Amino acid sequence: MKILVAYSGGLDTSVAIVWLKEKYNADIVGFCSDVGQGEDLEATRRKALKTGAVSCHVLDQREEFVRDFVFPAVRAGAVYEGEYYLGTALARPCIARGMMDVAAREGATAIAHGSTGKGNDQVRFELGAYWFNPSIKIIAPWREWEFKSRSELIAFAAAKNIPVEATAARPYSIDRNLLHTSYEGGILEDPDAEPPPEMFQRTADPRKAPDQPREVAISFEKGTPVAVDGNPLGPAALLSELNILAGEHGIGRADVVEDRFVGMKSRGVYETPGGTLLHKAHRAVASLTMDREAMRLRDTLSVEYATLTYRGFWFSPEREALQKLVDSVNEPVTGVARLRLYKGSAAVIGRRAPRSLYRNDIVTFEDDRGAYDQRDAGGFIRLNGLRLRTTALANKGR
Ligand code: ARG
Repeated sequence: MKILVAYSGGLDTSVAIVWLKEKYNADIVGFCSDVGQGEDLEATRRKALKTGAVSCHVLDQREEFVRDFVFPAVRAGAVYEGEYYLGTALARPCIARGMMDVAAREGATAIAHGSTGKGNDQVRFELGAYWFNPSIKIIAPWREWEFKSRSELIAFAAAKNIPVEATAARPYSIDRNLLHTSYEGGILEDPDAEPPPEMFQRTADPRKAPDQPREVAISFEKGTPVAVDGNPLGPAALLSELNILAGEHGIGRADVVEDRFVGMKSRGVYETPGGTLLHKAHRAVASLTMDREAMRLRDTLSVEYATLTYRGFWFSPEREALQKLVDSVNEPVTGVARLRLYKGSAAVIGRRAPRSLYRNDIVTFEDDRGAYDQRDAGGFIRLNGLRLRTTALANKGR
């Protein structure tokens, strides 16, 4: 039996390699996805081999992550519970797809991951895996093994000569990729305790951000970001660039209590610098170019799209159907939005588009020279008021 293990190089997945090998008497192949977490994955690969994996694949998924997951979610305006830009929820299906591709090439009949039985990530990995191989066997060591704590894992690692860094336990559970960094656990488990300032990795404290604002122009084609300040950039480079600009100005922090799919509330803190700019700028260009009812329809579906993404149903008939609608209403969303970045805020200061629906001749407070006949409004309002007047009259008779 061959098991492909999603390997991070950390304590849990290192113990998992040894534990799986013993328990299932299997060949273990490692899998590391690069979604922009900024770690030395070549070192991680070597560590997997030292820990007992027969081989280990490192897959660079940065470009596809942004192109096929982040940008579609921006077009959809997908934000979970009003605050969370879904950085982890979008990366998991991407990693699952890459992993299942390697599993097929390797002839692995089982996959394993290091997610606990309490979170959303287990659901996202496993639903994604089933989509690509309905008969894959999935092993989640955290749901099976006898270890209950980090110290038990460390003791096991010591007994089995598993290389573990001498570093103290990280104070938070951190998940990092090109879209965001998330923090959970540790002192954050008290939802009333402010995160310590030194926790944040990629955004300046807004109070200490530069006194000089920075303007940035983001261009979109059919709802997809294509350039920054007029310079065309590929998906990963574009998001990286915006991450730096927004991070310097302290933009994109969110401290939230959210509802996990399994039914519990959990406190998370997020840094989504570039993603915050993208959502703002996209809406600014859409405000000029998207038909009112198309936008209203998309906006009612954004919550649905965000929820199913959060719950791990990225690869599903419903997300694919929603994506078609989202992409269809994004056809005209081509143009440029300008933002001013300043001490934690990103303010839209202008927007333009070749196919703008904004008509100055119609909207003007000045003489519109017949572009709009104000007398039409009287009948428009009377007919819209017909049922209200009917109801008011009927109520009077009560
Ligand atoms: N709560 C967020 C989510 O469910 C972030 C999860 C981060 N994952 C992690 N293993 N630390 O999308």
